[in-house]
Amino acid sequence: MTVFTDNEIIERWRGEPAPLLPILHAFHERDGFVSEEAMVSIASGMRIPKADLYGTVTFYHHLAQHPPGRAAPRVCDGPVCRLAGSEELLDALRGEGATPMACAGRCDDAIPVLRGDQTLVGRTPDALEARPSPVPPPNPGGVEECVFASIRAPGRAGLAGYRETGGYSGLERAVTELGPEGVLREVTESGVAGRGGAGFPTGRKWRAVREAPGEPKSIVCNADEGEPGCFKDRALMDHDPHAVIEGMVAAAFATGASLGFIYLRYEYPETFHILARALEEARSAGFVGSNVLGAGFDFEIHIRRGAGAYICGEEGSLLNSLEGKHPFPRNRPPFPVTHGYEDRPTVVNNVETLASVPPILAQGAEWYRGLGCGEYAGTKVISLSGDVVRPGNYEVPIGLPLHTLLDDWAGGPGPGRRVQAVTMAGLSGGFLGPDELDVTLDEPSLRAKGSFLGAGGVMVFDDRRDMVEVARQAMSFFAHESCGKCFPCRIGAQRLTERLAGESGPTDVETWAEEVRDIGAVMKATSACGLGMAAPLVTDSLLRCFADQIERKLAR
Ligand SMILES: Cc1cc2nc3c(=O)[nH]c(=O)nc-3n(C[C@H](O)[C@H](O)[C@H](O)COP(=O)(O)O)c2cc1C
Ligand code: SF4
Repeated sequence: MTVFTDNEIIERWRGEPAPLLPILHAFHERDGFVSEEAMVSIASGMRIPKADLYGTVTFYHHLAQHPPGRAAPRVCDGPVCRLAGSEELLDALRGEGATPMACAGRCDDAIPVLRGDQTLVGRTPDALEARPSPVPPPNPGGVEECVFASIRAPGRAGLAGYRETGGYSGLERAVTELGPEGVLREVTESGVAGRGGAGFPTGRKWRAVREAPGEPKSIVCNADEGEPGCFKDRALMDHDPHAVIEGMVAAAFATGASLGFIYLRYEYPETFHILARALEEARSAGFVGSNVLGAGFDFEIHIRRGAGAYICGEEGSLLNSLEGKHPFPRNRPPFPVTHGYEDRPTVVNNVETLASVPPILAQGAEWYRGLGCGEYAGTKVISLSGDVVRPGNYEVPIGLPLHTLLDDWAGGPGPGRRVQAVTMAGLSGGFLGPDELDVTLDEPSLRAKGSFLGAGGVMVFDDRRDMVEVARQAMSFFAHESCGKCFPCRIGAQRLTERLAGESGPTDVETWAEEVRDIGAVMKATSACGLGMAAPLVTDSLLRCFADQIERKLAR
């Protein structure tokens, strides 16, 4: 294997778009960690102040700065893996220098362990093995799907298999029949909205980018998927990578963008290779690159691996990370549609949002709208995990009753068990308690209960679980992942974690509740991004649904 010098690595990437992340990864792979000498070389080669580079490198959880570095195992510490015994697995691997990592997006096949660039899965050290990520289980209701309609077809991840099952026909229709205006119309009329959390209407976002001045425009696929309990984007990219690429090319055609990025979370190393292979196939077949489909437009896609930080899923933080800056969220406005990648108009869309577009273009807006229940348009993939018989990614019509998903599709909790709580939006939507499960899976119904659907992670906790401890772990995750830019979030999440641990603060329930609500209200009102605004939903819902368990905790 050729070992490249510092200078060769820097020169390889210097002229490429978004070069810092691949440079950091190249050093990390070559040496096993990013040493101080490496940082000096990178800082001088890329003309970045050393202190800034040091701050950026140390911000990312997966960039080691000393041996054993990337070779040491990292064990998933997410809420579902904890139920599966991740603490014991971590202890058993401590001798190899193992450390915990935040939810690695494999809740349907616990427990993931990262070793170098390989994901191993198993519950004990002897059982750890490399295996492909699970294909989404078939939909037992026979309900029509959109993004999963062909995902189980053999060979779908390759170009030939993708083409045989209708792949790239949506893009062909866009180019030959619809034109950019027609694509914007179909996407807008379909009612598809962001599937990454915020639910912004996709057609409006694309039109804003089309109409914004500034070149080159960019399409960024947000494949950071750091929300605990969410693993749908991994399934889409692993088993249907061309759908994501086709969605990006359609977005470029509609908006006039020529530059594309897939920002992929560090914890999905195998997905990186799957995407790279699909991209190469798409390029060779003329779907990506210059003069796409002979239609006179150019669009190149670059894959950039993140380096481990939940906040990098937030679009401003993601764009700063791509640009090689410290990955703080950006103040808004301006929004990425006018001031995105390198301050130019940029679409940032989630993987699932982009993968929805090819079937919409192939089958029409009306078809997609009709997939939802009643007045709701379309579908949503729910990553379902935890105490449920058949965990997995399920594509549901928006508006489906939660009970149908939990009991009829996924087999309910184990025998003799009762569902005590589910999370919504991964952890960001807090919990729904036992009396709140009679709800449909759509934003208005969930918001009426003080929660939201977001990216669609639903973790199930049965009646054995200590919900105050589950909430403490959730808040500790937010405290750990807070970027620290605004102090109400940085300090508030920490104080709430301590309150939930019962370590400090009042011991009588009323004062405890008042203080916790107060901290949460300040966080919601003054945080600059969704992390600080969402974290208090954990404590709000705990107070709403599990006051008895809080009382027991404080009485100890
Ligand atoms: C803390 C935080 C983390 C986020 N993480 C992700 C993520 O991992 N993936 C994602 O698509 N969106 C994530 N988002 C939402 C993005 O900021 C953005 O709204 C989304 O990528 C837009 O794409 P969409 O309109 O297709 O959903 C996150 C937001 C916040 C506040
Ligand atoms: S709310 Fe939290 S995560 Fe978001 S910018 Fe402020 S400190 Fe950072």
